[in-house]
Amino acid sequence: MQDALKEIGRRRFLRRSASAIAFGTAALVLPAARAEEHKPVDDPMRVPGALPRPYGERSPFEKQQRLGGAGPGAPHGWGTNAPNNFNSGTPIQDLHGIITPSALHFERHHNGVPAIDPDRHRLLVHGLVERPLIFTVEELERLPSASRIAFLECSGNTWDGWREAQDVAVQDLYGLTSTSEWTGVKLSTLLEAVGVRREATWMLAEGSDAAGLDRSVPLTEDVLNEAMICYGQNGEALRPEQGYPLRLLLPGFEGNINVKWLRRLKLGTAPFMTRWETAKYTDLLPDGTAYQFTLIMEAKSVITYPSGQQQIRPGFHEISGLAWSGRGRVTKVEVSLDGGRLWQAARLQEPVLPKCHTRFRLPWRWNGQEAILQSRCTDETGYVQPTRQDLVKVRGTNSVYHYNAIQSWRVERDGRVRNIYA
Ligand code: CO
Repeated sequence: MQDALKEIGRRRFLRRSASAIAFGTAALVLPAARAEEHKPVDDPMRVPGALPRPYGERSPFEKQQRLGGAGPGAPHGWGTNAPNNFNSGTPIQDLHGIITPSALHFERHHNGVPAIDPDRHRLLVHGLVERPLIFTVEELERLPSASRIAFLECSGNTWDGWREAQDVAVQDLYGLTSTSEWTGVKLSTLLEAVGVRREATWMLAEGSDAAGLDRSVPLTEDVLNEAMICYGQNGEALRPEQGYPLRLLLPGFEGNINVKWLRRLKLGTAPFMTRWETAKYTDLLPDGTAYQFTLIMEAKSVITYPSGQQQIRPGFHEISGLAWSGRGRVTKVEVSLDGGRLWQAARLQEPVLPKCHTRFRLPWRWNGQEAILQSRCTDETGYVQPTRQDLVKVRGTNSVYHYNAIQSWRVERDGRVRNIYA
């Protein structure tokens, strides 16, 4: 530790003298562009560029940002009457590939983002176990680790689909889904350490935010094989908004059960019936009864270009979008240009990973006539993404969560793209 501090001190000193030298020799002949700030210049070949910086930032020309989305609990935009009950959507219309930059990962929190000192944070594992244990973050980081690229989707993503919201952007409708590489310890490793008892079939996961969000997790075979307690996201520590310093990851399950700021796991024989799975996060059916513990995010896809509120010109376009399924791999994405009469297979871009965003593409020459663009995905279980009509036939329109119908974008003759309910 002492050595490390010395090394850091020495590096700081070297860096300071390096910039002093740069200013000393260059300041007379060069404009003030030689700073650590990356300022646009007229001719980048005539002015030495900026100095390296300790922690990177994107180009000053890039402006994409998260926006308060259309999820439950917050209206469009950041203004909200429940100031700590936020969600914000990823600008999926602007992303490339399948990974969501950590700084643009969607957010959903129920009473703000806690600032947690990892040295003081603890994870308790107790209940139906032989040896209840308390882990520090450092202890967890020393256990055998695993990494996994997986999507996380808020169960309220696309809730506006139930209500037929008019003229909205894809970020507003679909922004509450993101993909990261997650790193941590497998849940099975911890359960082995505490000696989970055979009769344990459910597990309570509790967060240490001011909402005290807690959810019951069924210990299915998939959960036992795949669940992780994560401390890493896209190669660095979790962002505070994604649960720093520890979160549960249940690939394929609705966002909120991937409990953030995780402090406690309790093993039991039945669901714990927390308010988050009784008063909230259930799906009201037409007959007044409700589905409870609808945990898996079913197959879904959306064209992100061209999409709502965009403006296109006649000529060549690459239709592009994302598809994902909480049950495994996406095996097929079909695209229709005429509102679902004819379908053609889109190209799936590698890698195609289970329970992960999959990028699809289809070249298209727009002739200036009205078109209705749709995408329909199929997952490895054979499940086909439903039309809105078929979804509503089963679920009615009382629901808030788990809307996964085929999305329709109408390209009008003037090139304006609008969401419609075809
Ligand atoms: Co649900």
